[in-house]
Amino acid sequence: MRMPGDSRNVDDLDRGDDAGHEPGPRVSERPRPPAVPEVSNDAPGFAALLAKIAHDREFVCHSYKEKCLRRRIAVRLRARGAATYAEYARLLDGDPREYETLLDTLTINVTKLFRNWDTFAAVSRTVVPALWASPSHSLHIWSAGCASGEEAYSLAMLFHAHATEHGEGHRVGRICVLGTDIDRESLVAANRATYPESAFADTPAAFRSRYFAGGPLAAVDPGIRALVRFARHDLMRDPAPPGQHLIACRNVIIYFDRAAQEELFTRFHAALVPGGFLVLGKVETILGPTRGLFAPVDARERIFRRT
Ligand SMILES: C[S@@+](CC[C@H](N)C(=O)[O-])C[C@H]1O[C@@H](n2cnc3c(N)ncnc32)[C@H](O)[C@@H]1O
Repeated sequence: MRMPGDSRNVDDLDRGDDAGHEPGPRVSERPRPPAVPEVSNDAPGFAALLAKIAHDREFVCHSYKEKCLRRRIAVRLRARGAATYAEYARLLDGDPREYETLLDTLTINVTKLFRNWDTFAAVSRTVVPALWASPSHSLHIWSAGCASGEEAYSLAMLFHAHATEHGEGHRVGRICVLGTDIDRESLVAANRATYPESAFADTPAAFRSRYFAGGPLAAVDPGIRALVRFARHDLMRDPAPPGQHLIACRNVIIYFDRAAQEELFTRFHAALVPGGFLVLGKVETILGPTRGLFAPVDARERIFRRT
């Protein structure tokens, strides 16, 4: 079962050129892994396995960096002692739990509340006041690739805090946050809206005490919960929801190849209202011709504005 607040080191895992890192000790401390199965030249077997995953689980991998996919899948082959992609595919048919583990390995859904607080602080300083002052009746905020929901709730809390601090608590109903992800299990966790201590590492104490209750699984305040909804959405296949004022897509595009990234920026541009904001992850940026679609607002915190 997917649990939020996974104790894996989030930022160790979020590197698009990763080496298929699994949770566990640092590389230098790990025992040498058993030999990786000799599958690297089996292009047809690899393609057949990806087609099977797409067919069985609606998880289409062709936009992901191939090197990254190969390494991650090799981790599972090694863990299960499968010598070929075909053997691993047969194993998947008889073992639904392995399928879940594989999808976990491929989607990398670790996250935290207010992950990289500096970015949220910058959003709170620049983006939130600008949007709050807009005449729009509703403010549409999309957390694209939201994993177990932490980012979506964190954004709702930023807007909520701004509203109440400015005597506009009666207008919080205009905050409409949509969290989407390709991974259904993550969305189940997101809808549960309860988080363990490990999810709070980046959370300022004031937000923790104001917007969460109970423990050891702390529940999101019902007032915030009501502002956020979740839906399954594949960024590469499903149409982007239009009319967004802010899109946060952090630590997701890093796994996509260059063409897919550019395609996604074009879609985000179309989904944003004029002047709408885009926030990326700390090591992500806009490359290629799509760069002209956005102007940097805070280059360090990867905040952009639709031109
Ligand atoms: C590392 S998490 C990022 C969570 C959060 N945005 C953050 O920065 O903490 C990456 C998420 O992207 C999702 N993802 C990967 N490919 C996707 C796709 N094609 N469409 C939608 N979500 C996708 C994964 O399932 C995973 O939950």
